[in-house]
Amino acid sequence: MRSIFGMSHGLGGVLLALACQQGAWAATPSDLLSAYTTQAGRPASAARGQSFFTSRHGGEWSCASCHGSTASQEGKHASTGKAIRPLAPAFNPQRFTDESKVEKWFKRNCQDVLSRECSAAEKADVLAWLITVQP
Ligand code: HEC
Repeated sequence: MRSIFGMSHGLGGVLLALACQQGAWAATPSDLLSAYTTQAGRPASAARGQSFFTSRHGGEWSCASCHGSTASQEGKHASTGKAIRPLAPAFNPQRFTDESKVEKWFKRNCQDVLSRECSAAEKADVLAWLITVQP
């Protein structure tokens, strides 16, 4: 597969280009991590990601409120009570393999937790941590 992540347009441009050219596109967690890291312009930190994920940011919820503080177990939606499959890719191989799904949920969930979108640096940190969550 042609590597597109080295390009300098940022993830948004890459996403748009891919969506137009190819429709749904399969990624891997590490592809997405390098894309977010490039976009952020600084190295990702798993420690920072873990603390971001488990902290509240002014609102009622943290990411852990729905996904659990280890992200390795089934979570539970903080308002509907619906089960959510584990977020860490080692515990759920479907995670972080569909870029448009990842972007859609980052957007929605960051809005719920931070009342804004997450930055590329925040996404990179969270994903760096999730990748380290192993059985
Ligand atoms: C109010 C509940 C809730 C909160 C809080 C929440 N999420 Fe989610 N999250 C969901 C649901 C529901 C889904 C979609 C269902 C699924 O994929 O299992 C989801 C899916 C995701 C996905 C999609 C991953 C994939 O590839 O399938 C990511 C990434 C994600 N959440 C990150 C976060 C981050 C980061 C935070 C904190 C900023 C957060 N979530 C907070 C409920 C929540």
